[in-house]
Amino acid sequence: MERLVINGKRKLSGEVKIHGAKNAALPILCACVLCDEKVVLHNCPKLSDIKNTIEILKYLGCEVTREEDTVEVVNKGYLKDSIPKDLMNKMRSSIIFLGPLTAKLGKANLCLPGGCELGPRPIDIHLKSFEKLNVNVVKQSGKIACSTEKIKGTSINLPFPSVGATENIMLLTALGNSKTLIHNAAREPEIIELQNFLNKCGANISGAGENCIVINGVKKLHGCTHSILPDRIEASTYMSFAAATGSTISIKNICNEHIEPVVFAFREAGCEMLFGENELKIIAPKRLNRIMHIKTLVYPGFPTDSGMPIIAMSCVAKGTTIFEETIFQNRYNATLGLNKMGANIKIYDRIAVVEGVKELYGADVEATDLRGGAALVCASLAANGITKITQLQHIDRGYENIEYNLSVLGADIKREKD
Ligand code: UD1
Repeated sequence: MERLVINGKRKLSGEVKIHGAKNAALPILCACVLCDEKVVLHNCPKLSDIKNTIEILKYLGCEVTREEDTVEVVNKGYLKDSIPKDLMNKMRSSIIFLGPLTAKLGKANLCLPGGCELGPRPIDIHLKSFEKLNVNVVKQSGKIACSTEKIKGTSINLPFPSVGATENIMLLTALGNSKTLIHNAAREPEIIELQNFLNKCGANISGAGENCIVINGVKKLHGCTHSILPDRIEASTYMSFAAATGSTISIKNICNEHIEPVVFAFREAGCEMLFGENELKIIAPKRLNRIMHIKTLVYPGFPTDSGMPIIAMSCVAKGTTIFEETIFQNRYNATLGLNKMGANIKIYDRIAVVEGVKELYGADVEATDLRGGAALVCASLAANGITKITQLQHIDRGYENIEYNLSVLGADIKREKD
């Protein structure tokens, strides 16, 4: 078993470079099955979710090589139409293979992803949209079979701007000779990134980042070279680390615009933020102020993935922070660990009430999910004494080199193995 051992209360200083965005790299890797030529992806983060997606691509028949942060994918032209359960179950986002495989082969057979740490994760919006696009969908005994003679483009109104459903529909309809409109589409930067990537490969898609995405199917997609955009969630997590420890750090390789939705929360907490070109210097006060009310929303609202680390930093703020989660049911699992460290968080359904305390104390805690794990790291950095965090597989899904980066910033952190 591995654990992170963090001796808290060290000020951080210096700079950290943000990696490529996991949530952009994943759908782009899935999109590679649509391309008939080599795809070269730079700035691809080294994370377990990316490794698992590469394993699926290899299983399907693609040739994939990785050297440092560059991944090359060659679709050799004979793809399998199914993905075994053990590969599917490693991460929920493997459902994004459904669209491109159905588009490319006319059929796809996948296992249904179960719920996850964040609660039930239905895919009804994906499937209903597929049916509207002339895909026959059969769900039986935990399996899902899609088949189609021909994708027939149409106008789709999403009942909720689901990120995954928007991506799956874009990937299902990028090929073919019909036109599809996605109304109430997700507007996250990762959707624009997927559009940019697909268009570089020859697709004809417009409107990403706005309410309506228009996809004109094309005959074929070629390859391209593409660099993955920076991870806005990793950036906001390092901002929380700096804020919780009263530190000043520079965060490099960010897209300033994508950080905008979280900036108000850090300003309200008393942090000064100086933006440069693709970088940010955050100067945190000795003790943070409370943040009156944070509510997670779809982009450009406050991102749900940035929430738990901000809750962790608010644990040591002056006063009461009210946090409202509107996207996922079970975002607050890490509260148990935070309270074990001396935090005072009470959960009322979707609302977390965080009463700031003067001190947190080191404890033995378990990461429960990716962002909850990052929240425990955040609290440990601010806490008196030693915290040991286990279940690191959650944290490793989304943070490349976390202990190295934090050590360079001056934290006392190491990874131990039994
Ligand atoms: C993506 C991100 C995740 C982020 C989330 C919201 C990836 C790999 N993951 O997840 O990190 O937290 O966006 O920004 O990019 N829903 C349905 N039916 C559906 C689809 C979704 O009810 O068919 C619900 C979900 O249960 C959830 C909400 O809609 O409550 C948001 O889901 P969605 O936007 O689809 O998130 P993901 O694509 O799963």
